[in-house]
Amino acid sequence: MERPSPCGSWLVGCLFTIAVFQPPVQVLGDAGKVYIAPLRDTANLPCPLFLWPNMVLSEMRWYRPGHLPRTQAVHVFRDGQDRDEDLMPEYKGRTALVRDAHKESYILQISNVRLEDRGLYQCQVWVGNSSREDNVTLQVAVLGSDPYIHVKGYDAGWIELLCQSVGWFPKPWTEWRDTTGRALLSLSEVHSLDENGLFRTAVSSRIRDNALGNVSCTIHNEALGQEKTTAMIIGAPERGSLSSPAVALSVVLPVLGLLILLGIWLICKQKKSKEKLLYEQAMEKIFWKTTPKKKEDSTKPSRNSGVN
Ligand SMILES: *[C@@H]1O[C@H](CO)[C@@H](O)[C@H](O)[C@H]1NC(C)=O
Ligand SMILES: *[C@@H]1O[C@H](CO)[C@@H](O)[C@H](O)[C@H]1NC(C)=O
Ligand SMILES: *[C@@H]1O[C@H](CO)[C@@H](O)[C@H](O)[C@H]1NC(C)=O
Repeated sequence: MERPSPCGSWLVGCLFTIAVFQPPVQVLGDAGKVYIAPLRDTANLPCPLFLWPNMVLSEMRWYRPGHLPRTQAVHVFRDGQDRDEDLMPEYKGRTALVRDAHKESYILQISNVRLEDRGLYQCQVWVGNSSREDNVTLQVAVLGSDPYIHVKGYDAGWIELLCQSVGWFPKPWTEWRDTTGRALLSLSEVHSLDENGLFRTAVSSRIRDNALGNVSCTIHNEALGQEKTTAMIIGAPERGSLSSPAVALSVVLPVLGLLILLGIWLICKQKKSKEKLLYEQAMEKIFWKTTPKKKEDSTKPSRNSGVN
């Protein structure tokens, strides 16, 4: 953008152009450099346009490209003062402009960073009547909930585990470790965005059922350089004094006991039905012995009479 500059010296314009076109540290196309701020913390967005020491900044405006109305700014600094006009209401009272340490440029500070603050920011600098603009990106990083490990199932000697957590940004990565601290293979990974634009994660793995000790699940937020870990103790009792034969015995003995009881019960049942059978046979013998003698006793149970 150029405005006619009747009294503006070409030298200033030229210096400005040179200064402004010094490449920023890292250029990533339209998005510019990416800056990360933790949620509810303060974001520092350096304007990637540099100023020579003797250049007088007449105006600096920060915009959110793509946010309407286009005329509203995140921050306006003009003639040495911050201005209140044309500000986006959601940024009012949350921004400040500070000179960076080397005084080559300015840093926009946004306090109490919210999730909606993430995205593209455009810094527009006016020196005299010429302006330049460039973009930077703000990313808001959030550490999610403590991982929650739960046993999903058991399959042929393997314990299947699921590690879940919510509220992460950007997308975290999850790592399972076995009882010896070695990384375990993840069987499935599901990441989805919740209604707040934060990631939930569910990563499954499995471990042999004879492994004793801690299995852990760690979720990393690379943007923050922070992580959260939860461990689950598999198998061994707290005091760790039981050897695996003892553990095996503690499982086998109750089962054995049950089997013995079941056996006794079966034997008793069989004996009873045998007795009953003998009794019935005996009764039948009596019956057959007695029937030839006609019209005699009626002591026999009627169901054994054979005649209805
Ligand atoms: C910029 O332009 C305006 C008119 O548009 C003029 O009044 C002013 O003096 C100019 N300033 C510079 C530094 O060139
Ligand atoms: C900044 O981003 C806007 C919107 O995407 C784009 O139109 C503009 O060209 C970008 N500016 C620079 C200097 O990359
Ligand atoms: C297992 O994890 C618990 C709690 O996370 C910890 O207190 C304990 O020291 C760990 N044990 C081993 C052997 O790593």
